[in-house]
Amino acid sequence: MSPQGWTAGYGHGVPDAIFTHPRLAAFYDAFDGPRDDLAAYAGIAEELGAHRVLDVGCGTGCLALLLARSGYAVVAVDPATASLEVARSKDESAAVNWIQGDAAQLPAVGADLAVMTGNVAHVFLSDTDWAQALAAIGGALRPHGYLVFETRRPGRRVWQDWAADTRPVILDVPGSGPVEQCRAVTAVNLPFVSFRCTYTFAADGAVITSDSTLRFRSRDEVEASLAAQGYQVLEVREAPDRPGQEFVFIAERTP
Ligand SMILES: C[S@@+](CC[C@H](N)C(=O)[O-])C[C@H]1O[C@@H](n2cnc3c(N)ncnc32)[C@H](O)[C@@H]1O
Repeated sequence: MSPQGWTAGYGHGVPDAIFTHPRLAAFYDAFDGPRDDLAAYAGIAEELGAHRVLDVGCGTGCLALLLARSGYAVVAVDPATASLEVARSKDESAAVNWIQGDAAQLPAVGADLAVMTGNVAHVFLSDTDWAQALAAIGGALRPHGYLVFETRRPGRRVWQDWAADTRPVILDVPGSGPVEQCRAVTAVNLPFVSFRCTYTFAADGAVITSDSTLRFRSRDEVEASLAAQGYQVLEVREAPDRPGQEFVFIAERTP
């Protein structure tokens, strides 16, 4: 299954402008807000006894840096060069091994744990893209290594909240100046939801748009796809910072 009418974007080898455009990637963290989600992932890494962690779709590197600064050996992969540049600029001690690449083609790093935070799993729109990503992550894990990631619960229908909230957000971002973000949901063709973010820069009047399409999979669908790629689902948890909104899958690679 794949959505009608898109030619680029999430999961199609070319991430959205918000990740790839240098002017947008520069303030991704500012608009993303406090990362209350990451402590749970650090806790899970400790709980699972991981040492070597692979961060797939690392973006601007918030989790990768948190883990590396806590002593984990971290390899972080993302196809968006502009996001990786932001991540590298925050990594003063070069603690993370940053790799520009796609989830479907990962290095065999023998990771104890692979993670996908920030709902990266939604970027894989087609069944093939998702299966390839899961297979490649399996290949990057050691035998019995773990994969932990989150997805938004489709039943929560969060896109209705996004559509209802049309208020612009204006932030004065160091290095960019005041920037206005307007988000509009542009299509709901379940399981696909598309939206457009428009950014207007006060400094020079530039207007840059970023179009996104996400795929919402059911819990059963995710569990079946994991089993098909040789994982055993150990547990499905809540995200402590977003109760009732997310599934957090903890899966183990079967040898
Ligand atoms: C919502 S961001 C999350 C970033 C980061 N994990 C975080 O928690 O801040 C989604 C990320 O997925 C990345 N991405 C898009 N397509 C991808 C692909 N095919 N393989 C790996 N990452 C991809 C994007 O470049 C972007 O950095």
